[in-house]
Amino acid sequence: MISAMQIVVLNGPNLSRLGKREPEVYGRQTLDDINCELAASFPEISFEFFQTEFEGQLLEKLFQSEDQGGCRGVVLNAGALTHYSIALRDAISAITIPVVEVHLSNIYAREEFRRRSVISEVCVGVISGFGANSYHLGVRALLGIAHNG
Ligand code: DQA
Repeated sequence: MISAMQIVVLNGPNLSRLGKREPEVYGRQTLDDINCELAASFPEISFEFFQTEFEGQLLEKLFQSEDQGGCRGVVLNAGALTHYSIALRDAISAITIPVVEVHLSNIYAREEFRRRSVISEVCVGVISGFGANSYHLGVRALLGIAHNG
């Protein structure tokens, strides 16, 4: 039997507030809406969705994703941790499964402090500025990696 491809979708601080939080920047969809759309768009994939406000829990989830075996990659919106968490960067470096960095907004078109990501260098790629579609593109990127390399 061929088991479904597993992808983990991780969201960090404040992304639980999507829908209510600055809708002009982040859109009106809730995180649940985004996750349900992803699951519906990629029925062949077995998703695990996880959101936390805590840095350490993101690290633990990254390690679990690697250790549980079978996970083909992680789509990660680290929220503000993107800009300063060396611990998160080190955790991504410490695992071998591919991590795609995604952002709803275009972080390069925003405040100066958001234009720097400390995790980009250790992610396989970055998708930023396409709203909820950034997550879809992140999944597509992981599918490409899984099929080609
Ligand atoms: C974000 C961009 C970050 O700068 C911000 O702190 C977030 C969301 C995005 O998805 O656009 O929380 O990662």
